[in-house]
Amino acid sequence: MTARAWVIMNPGGVRRVVVTKELPGKRWLQLLTAADCRVEIAQGDEVLSRAELQEAIGERCDAAIGQLTESWSAETLGALTAAGALIYSQYAVGYDNVDVAAATRLGLPVGNTPGVLTETTAQLAVALTFAAARRLAEGDRMMRAGEYHGWLPGMLLGSLLYRGTLGIVGAGRIGAAYARMMVEGHKMDLLYYDVRANVELEAYVADYSAFLLAHGERPVTCRRAETLVGLLRACDVVSIHAALTEKTQHLIGGPELAAMKEEAVLVNASRGRLVDEAALAAHCRTHPRFRAGLDVYEDEPAMAPGLAELDNLVLVPHLGSATTFTREGMATLAAANVVAILEGWPVWHAVAGLEDVAPFLDGPESPHAAPSIVNADDLGLPRLAGQAPTKEDQQ
Ligand code: DGY
Repeated sequence: MTARAWVIMNPGGVRRVVVTKELPGKRWLQLLTAADCRVEIAQGDEVLSRAELQEAIGERCDAAIGQLTESWSAETLGALTAAGALIYSQYAVGYDNVDVAAATRLGLPVGNTPGVLTETTAQLAVALTFAAARRLAEGDRMMRAGEYHGWLPGMLLGSLLYRGTLGIVGAGRIGAAYARMMVEGHKMDLLYYDVRANVELEAYVADYSAFLLAHGERPVTCRRAETLVGLLRACDVVSIHAALTEKTQHLIGGPELAAMKEEAVLVNASRGRLVDEAALAAHCRTHPRFRAGLDVYEDEPAMAPGLAELDNLVLVPHLGSATTFTREGMATLAAANVVAILEGWPVWHAVAGLEDVAPFLDGPESPHAAPSIVNADDLGLPRLAGQAPTKEDQQ
């Protein structure tokens, strides 16, 4: 293993903050240096191992900003608190790589970055839906290979989806944003599967239906599915937006795929382990009219054998949040979490959408609050507006 290079910004800063990857934008670094932090940034694309994380934490560290690709286990978080750190801030909204229960036991706040990636990730899921349904990757490969020899009536026929039935598994912020884009844009009936009813989404679709009726168009429907398999049987598109937990691992496996329509589209831009990749490869092999779009994989950056050879799959490398706006915003929120906890500021109110975190992104001065601490309530941290978020607000 070659020694990793580190860049040190504001070397005279009194608080030591370890950042495990270069982050986009400037505001995040301005926030940290204005709070008298010496910022140590790991260089290179390779993921920091547990040993490297612990070495980087060292004997004194006030905070760390880490990546979803790293293992922030109880042991590593223990090393962080032993070094005096007051916060671990994740550069992502998802935090299945962080042992939050251990952090809570250690009294360590865990920050994340909701709000800035809702529409961006939903949009990527929409892009994958149509790339798969309309066979864009196959068409692109055909053009590049010089295999397009003229328009033909039966060439690369896909699925229309317009006025079809859409299923979302997980109706939190990103799932609901994706559903709205698909329902409004393509007038699909919506079925959702979630442990909680999303009354806001239901009301939104009802209002949209009234709008369609007022314009002489057929309304759309929205219903919460009683069972996952009921949803899978009924839908032309199923997009997964559930959080990864022990219970949701391999939520979609062989039996679930077998329940889906012959020509359905499956999209996953959430977490790879929600889908049994080997089962998906087997299903796509035997069901050539079934299509899937994947942004995430069970064992990233690897893929299950056989996936790459299948034409009915569209594969992209975990691009859900990959817009300049969002990645810079995530950096700003991750840094704002650190600054707020180091300064002893309270936690911001519940984050429902972009408007809730906008003051952190472009105001002249960042609010004196931590945008999002996932274990704030368990740790009894004070909130700015006295408003407690629900668990799904933080996903
Ligand atoms: C997240 O923030 O959890 C995303 O997966 C990053 O794109």
